[in-house]
Amino acid sequence: STQSTTVYRAAILNFLSDPDIDGEDAYQFFQDGALVIENGKVANLGEASEILATLAAGVKIVEYKDHLIIPGMIDTHIHYPQVEVIASYGEQLLDWLNNYTFPAERQFEDKEYASNIANFFLDELLKCGTTTALVFGTVHKQSVEAFFEASEARNTRMICGKVMMDRNAPEFLCDTPESSYEDSKSLIDTWHNNGRQLYAVTPRFAITSTHEQLQKAEQLMQEYPDVYLQTHISENKDEMAFVAELFPDAKDYLDVYDQYNLLGKRSVFAHGIHLNEREHQRFRETGSSVSFCPTSNLFLGSGLLDIKELEEQQVAYSVATDVGGGTSFSMLQTLSEAYKVTQLNGNKLSALKSLYLATLGNAKTLQLDDKIGSFKTGNEADFAVLDFNSTPLMALKQGKCKTLAEKLFAMIILGDDRAVQATYVAGNCVHDRDVTIHSDVN
Ligand code: GUN
Ligand code: ZN
Repeated sequence: STQSTTVYRAAILNFLSDPDIDGEDAYQFFQDGALVIENGKVANLGEASEILATLAAGVKIVEYKDHLIIPGMIDTHIHYPQVEVIASYGEQLLDWLNNYTFPAERQFEDKEYASNIANFFLDELLKCGTTTALVFGTVHKQSVEAFFEASEARNTRMICGKVMMDRNAPEFLCDTPESSYEDSKSLIDTWHNNGRQLYAVTPRFAITSTHEQLQKAEQLMQEYPDVYLQTHISENKDEMAFVAELFPDAKDYLDVYDQYNLLGKRSVFAHGIHLNEREHQRFRETGSSVSFCPTSNLFLGSGLLDIKELEEQQVAYSVATDVGGGTSFSMLQTLSEAYKVTQLNGNKLSALKSLYLATLGNAKTLQLDDKIGSFKTGNEADFAVLDFNSTPLMALKQGKCKTLAEKLFAMIILGDDRAVQATYVAGNCVHDRDVTIHSDVN
């Protein structure tokens, strides 16, 4: 392709490190900033007055007045086949899985159905300013093929895996240790590091895998040491009791996964609401991370994850939507619910920390901060353009805010997909709120 340079001019927020640790040194904020993109990568970031003076004549400048550019947001736990499960009434985890989720996932046996939903799902994420996610498919190999094909078409950096499950689920959703191994292996060979796509070995959770299948997951992680591992842990009390029954020799829930060497710095465990000190220690020792899913934890009545406790225990954590247990694709809405959870736990998540988590923090837990999550020179140019006047209420409130912290906090608490003016992936505009895109999903 031809060499191309575009400059985006707006307010710009970029993180260098955790603002709870490094305060004002943790971020850059330019009220009138310029982000220079060359060939899909970040080339420069700074004050518009300084950057524009250095540019050759004729360089394309895109101006977003009264907008805020941030790195594309990252969602570390979400189920693409659960789009239609969202807002299902009345159950906690195990009944919710049996009554709503498993029947919905059955449909992904049909590749064409899977492709339609994968396209819908990715467009929904991009509408919300999310450009990378760690995503569950279903047990069907073709569900993940459909997902990666849809992601490849958009050039999004996505991580996905075929669910491994061979017991305690309807027969129509069960694989076998051997077939789960073969299907995962073939998907890794085809898709891992193919363009921007990455693979995650995905045993659903301890309840739905036999000893033999967890051994196959272990074998995959040994044969492919740079793939991810995603699963669930300690979300719900009934779930935990069932795991204790199924694995009487395990010291605790995490020890089930640990016995198969599934822990590590690319291993992401969703929920982790009810972990003991020994489990915290193993998270810390192995660099594994917890994915905090506030809208899901509230919606399914699972509990209030204490992220302050995780910080004290030096357990890495990220933030995620967990659609369809979660109730929104928007990381802004997710951060708003995260704030409320911290309030109930007697502490408070700041706006700067929240936006750090959704960008650089989440990128770090995925070991992807050398590629995404910030505007470091050379990073892939994924970014979201947020609108401070996206609704009358947002505009009214922003008019009353004096500090950056106040403005960002109002953006998070009142924001949703309407607050996202545009989303860019590798330097290309893939969503513009004011342009109607006709989808072929019916
Ligand atoms: N535990 C096992 N499977 C699931 C799932 O699909 N969603 C949630 N929230 N928890 C799970
Ligand atoms: Zn989940």
